[in-house]
Amino acid sequence: MKALVTGVSGFVGSHMAEFLLQKGVEVVGTIRNRSRMNHIEHMLRDLHLVECELRDPFSVETLVKTEKPDLIFHLAAQSFVPTSWNAPMDTINNNIAGQLHIFEAVRRFDLPSKIQIACSSEEYGHVDPHETPILESNPLRPLSPYAISKVAQDLMGYQYYKSYGLHVIRTRTFNHTGPRRGEQFVTSNFAKQIADIEKRLQPPVMSVGNLEAKRDFTDVRDVVRAYWLALEKGQPGEVYNIASGTCWSIADMLKLLLSFSDANIETRQDPARMRPSDVELLLGNYDNFHAATGWRPEIPFERTMLDLLNYWRSQ
Ligand code: GDD
Repeated sequence: MKALVTGVSGFVGSHMAEFLLQKGVEVVGTIRNRSRMNHIEHMLRDLHLVECELRDPFSVETLVKTEKPDLIFHLAAQSFVPTSWNAPMDTINNNIAGQLHIFEAVRRFDLPSKIQIACSSEEYGHVDPHETPILESNPLRPLSPYAISKVAQDLMGYQYYKSYGLHVIRTRTFNHTGPRRGEQFVTSNFAKQIADIEKRLQPPVMSVGNLEAKRDFTDVRDVVRAYWLALEKGQPGEVYNIASGTCWSIADMLKLLLSFSDANIETRQDPARMRPSDVELLLGNYDNFHAATGWRPEIPFERTMLDLLNYWRSQ
């Protein structure tokens, strides 16, 4: 069995590749350039890497035609919400065009590939407390250009299933984290700041943004297992929430991280870290995905956060 993982040198992509290799699946991974190889250096002997620009239809067509993957995990994306405020067109173009080119190539060559697409809980956007835990049928009220790009990817998945019968499974994943998480995301950013303070690389003052927001966090290792099950057991055309079913305020997540350290740390709000509009509350219901696949998250959040902090301590 051959799997294509787009964005294999990214956070989720690298964990996905590790999971698949452990299962004995042949993995072809796309990278955009060879600059960000540190996440996958330990797998280079087993991975087949292909340089591919997903925004270029010819690049994608050649890849899909040559590799004819049984499974496609489409994880490449511009995934940081604040970047999408600064460069909305780039985010929208990158995220929509890349997926469109994959779908078109699979359709053109009439391949039976099963395709998982990484949609997001950001699509739900503004959620009132009485609307939680969030079901797949909740309204989509996106609050950022990133969220718009994910709504488009999501509905494109539906459309290509309905129009052409492509075997697309849409996973709306809530926040996920763990070792190798990019340092711009909140869990990783705070963990790295603590590790840097412990190493005396930063004065004992942490910069933070909106601590009131609440998020539903799952360990990335549980998430990649969910993506595998989504293609093994999920219904084509269907959309599934991948979540933990519990939520943490960012303030409580910070307290948890601080409890792992002996350092005496002050926190200071940095206005530059505040967003034009933030999603205040995300809490997911994953019952549909559990019913379809038997999946439930296994790694407790405390374990995930300690592993993340230890990851930064070891860098
Ligand atoms: N990044 C960051 N840095 N966020 C902060 C900070 C900070 O210093 N302080 C508070 N926050 C708050 C943000 O305002 C937001 O409410 C929350 O922490 C989480 O921010 P991120 O970690 O940047 O993630 P996100 O929720 O915007 O988006 C992530 O989850 C989505 C799924 O819901 C990303 O992983 C997306 O790619 C993913 O789709």
